[in-house]
Amino acid sequence: MAAAGSAVGLGNIWGFPTQTASNGGAAFLIAYLVLAFCLAYPALMAELTIGRHGQANAVSSLRKISNTPLQKRFAFVVGFGGIICAGLILSFYAIVAGWMISATVEPIATLAGSDTASTWLSEQSLSRNMIFTAGFIILTVAIISRGVEHGIEKWSKRLMPALLSILFALIVYVMMQEGAMTGLKAYLVPDFKSILDPELLVSALGQAFFSLSLGTSVMIIYGSYISKKENLVSLGAYVTLIDVFIAFVAGLLIIPAMYVAQAQGVEIFSATGELLSEDTLVFQVLPALFDGMGTIGLFVGFAFFALMSIAALTSSISMLEAPVSYAVERFTMSRVAATWLIGVVIALVSFTILLNFGSLFGLVIALTTKFGQPILGLMCCLFVGWIWYRNSLLNEIKQGCPEVATSLFWKIWPWYIKFICPIAIGLVFVSSIVG
Ligand code: PHE
Repeated sequence: MAAAGSAVGLGNIWGFPTQTASNGGAAFLIAYLVLAFCLAYPALMAELTIGRHGQANAVSSLRKISNTPLQKRFAFVVGFGGIICAGLILSFYAIVAGWMISATVEPIATLAGSDTASTWLSEQSLSRNMIFTAGFIILTVAIISRGVEHGIEKWSKRLMPALLSILFALIVYVMMQEGAMTGLKAYLVPDFKSILDPELLVSALGQAFFSLSLGTSVMIIYGSYISKKENLVSLGAYVTLIDVFIAFVAGLLIIPAMYVAQAQGVEIFSATGELLSEDTLVFQVLPALFDGMGTIGLFVGFAFFALMSIAALTSSISMLEAPVSYAVERFTMSRVAATWLIGVVIALVSFTILLNFGSLFGLVIALTTKFGQPILGLMCCLFVGWIWYRNSLLNEIKQGCPEVATSLFWKIWPWYIKFICPIAIGLVFVSSIVG
């Protein structure tokens, strides 16, 4: 459940619907589903298995399966690269999570009758963004400095059903509004011509890896916390299913809600049909929906954004755990000192992004999620496929799943991550460069 908590986050409710809306709707959905199950799930299995075998941070776990000095150096590059990637992701993630928290507080200000506060909370400004980004990072640091074991699982367990219930209730409401059916069609009826568009494929691949927290060493670390009694094969499958399902359901709410908002006069698309403000789409569309509900909308808005903030937190703690677990194990630093130190560095990067929002925000997202994550995830597949001895790999997976040697999974997965995943991920990149 903690791994699912890491996977389910802003990637599902902010990233996925925004990407779907700006990449042609249903065509993106199909590419995403195929890539999530066919490339991201096998890569997730590779990372979880490396971690459970290594019982340590990403660099040490990858080193443990390396056999030569060159491979050990490669292990450092991949593990440390993932840690940097996780830190950079956290620096933009905290900004978006800050928007979620301010959207949670805004209905309270409105209920209290403070117009100035509610306007400040709902409009983009440097002061608001700085305060809420810092607040979110402090929350993450406070949790991680106490050690991850405590509480994450409990939160994640309660979070998923609560999140799904509110999403379903909102979907029923949205479907009754004018414009929703146009949105539903855009989400579910694909234009097959654009499915193989290289740009769309790179975005869908990046989104799938982002949503499953891959290529950041996070799933290696979480793998190291999984007991040897657990069945890794089904555990990985559950995490993927929960994550993809929540993203799909979020799309079912947000894409129709865009069209409902448009029917109510909110400007969503430009004259040429492009999205006007991608990053803040969710923060325009959903409040417009809640406003239409009257006073009850204030409570619904509060509940929705509060749940989103918790979902963001169960993901951000996994990101911060990546550099912290490395620093604690490698430099024998105290957990509290390491967490605060790294937290300050990440906050400084976040502030730099906020101060240069136009040029840095999109750039950091593209660098980490479109390129960093799939490429580092691919390297983990290479590790398991080409470097790790087959018998040792099988012995690891057998623990908690003794029948795996004769299963379909074991017949397909080892050669799949050896050949298919690297070639497919490579092809997506080559086609996007050539395209
Ligand atoms: N998977 C998380 C989400 O969907 C984001 C994340 C990325 C978490 C990388 C950890 C590492 O929001």
